[in-house]
Amino acid sequence: MAEHRPPRVVLGVAGGIAAYKACEVLRRLTETGHQVRVVPTESALNFVGAATFEALSGQPVRTGVFEDIPEVAHVRLGQQAQLVVIAPATADLMARAAQGRADDLLTATLLTARCPVLMVPAMHTEMWLHPATVANVALLRSRGIVVMEPASGRLTGVDTGPGRLPEPAEIAEFARLLLERPDALPQDLVGRRVVVSAGGTREPLDPVRFLGNRSSGRQGYALARVAAQRGAEVTLVRAHTSEDLLPPASVRVVDTGTAAQLREAMVHESAGADVVVMAAAVADFRPADMVQHKIKKTDSGPPTLSLETNPDILVELVGKRAEGQLIVGFAAETGDENGDVLHHGRAKLARKGCDLLVVNAVGDGKAFEQPDNAGWLLGADGGEVELPPGSKALLASSLWDAVAHRLG
Ligand code: C5P
Repeated sequence: MAEHRPPRVVLGVAGGIAAYKACEVLRRLTETGHQVRVVPTESALNFVGAATFEALSGQPVRTGVFEDIPEVAHVRLGQQAQLVVIAPATADLMARAAQGRADDLLTATLLTARCPVLMVPAMHTEMWLHPATVANVALLRSRGIVVMEPASGRLTGVDTGPGRLPEPAEIAEFARLLLERPDALPQDLVGRRVVVSAGGTREPLDPVRFLGNRSSGRQGYALARVAAQRGAEVTLVRAHTSEDLLPPASVRVVDTGTAAQLREAMVHESAGADVVVMAAAVADFRPADMVQHKIKKTDSGPPTLSLETNPDILVELVGKRAEGQLIVGFAAETGDENGDVLHHGRAKLARKGCDLLVVNAVGDGKAFEQPDNAGWLLGADGGEVELPPGSKALLASSLWDAVAHRLG
């Protein structure tokens, strides 16, 4: 049997206060089985000591090109890496990278790396918005480096605005995606407006009970995150989603609860959008009446629920769509005596009238509440693409490929 080699990741850490969060990024990468070599800049060591990085990574930490000369570390680290993540990436680090400098081990590593590079900026808002940084980010992106958008929120001291390091979970999600597929995050949706629905609707029975479903919203979040990173202006219309999910930085979030609220938000937000993706799990039925007080237990046995059908939002959006708008649906299917998953998927695509349909096989613990997904992408033009098993971000990247291709 071939020896299993864990992916080699270089974690670069530049000198900003967010360097302390690099420890959490490092922990997530090592816990998921990566072999991580931390390469801080000299200034990063003013915030976190080398001993911390060495203990967490189990590997030596060096900063300069004149250490480990016989190992030729300034060349080997980059050559052997399967992914370089720089978190935090300061304005200075990005400026040096844009210029192709090699004055420390991290920048030298960047020059020899031929693998994907993920830079995660963190700095004060003024520095992020400065024309010099804007130009450096554009240049790095044009060379294929993935530069994440910083999150907005509280920075050091009393300042707020864009410039915060995105959460370690988001960074780890993109790191995994780039290891699964190095070209998963091209800048091919710039200037496109995208609306994605996510999560499961909840239909109230009374003030404390509802009819819901097991959708976590993970796939919808991954779709929104990947589209935003590929340059789109994204609105995420969410129903109920798992509490550990973080709204992606730079995505506008609209909160809804019931199918009726989701419908209203989707109809409103879809006007003028280039792409609409219905990834939400919408309840097909709702209680005919929402009782204003809690339904009490009585001796006469359980109450009888009377249900009515919810509108099919996807069908309505297809009916209202503007010229050139692309609409994508999702279908969770199981096979039965009438046909397999794909057969049912094709029939659903025809019934809904959308341009693309992602078909997932469900049951046996597949898809729902899971980090991973797989399936097929069916096109109204007869196209059929298998979506290989992998992260939900990987499935999202395949869908956005098909969308970008169709948008031309
Ligand atoms: O018919 P089914 O629920 O399997 O279809 C799934 C697709 O239709 C998903 O894209 C879902 O978001 C959408 N849908 C909808 N309105 C409903 C039910 C489903 O838009 N009432």
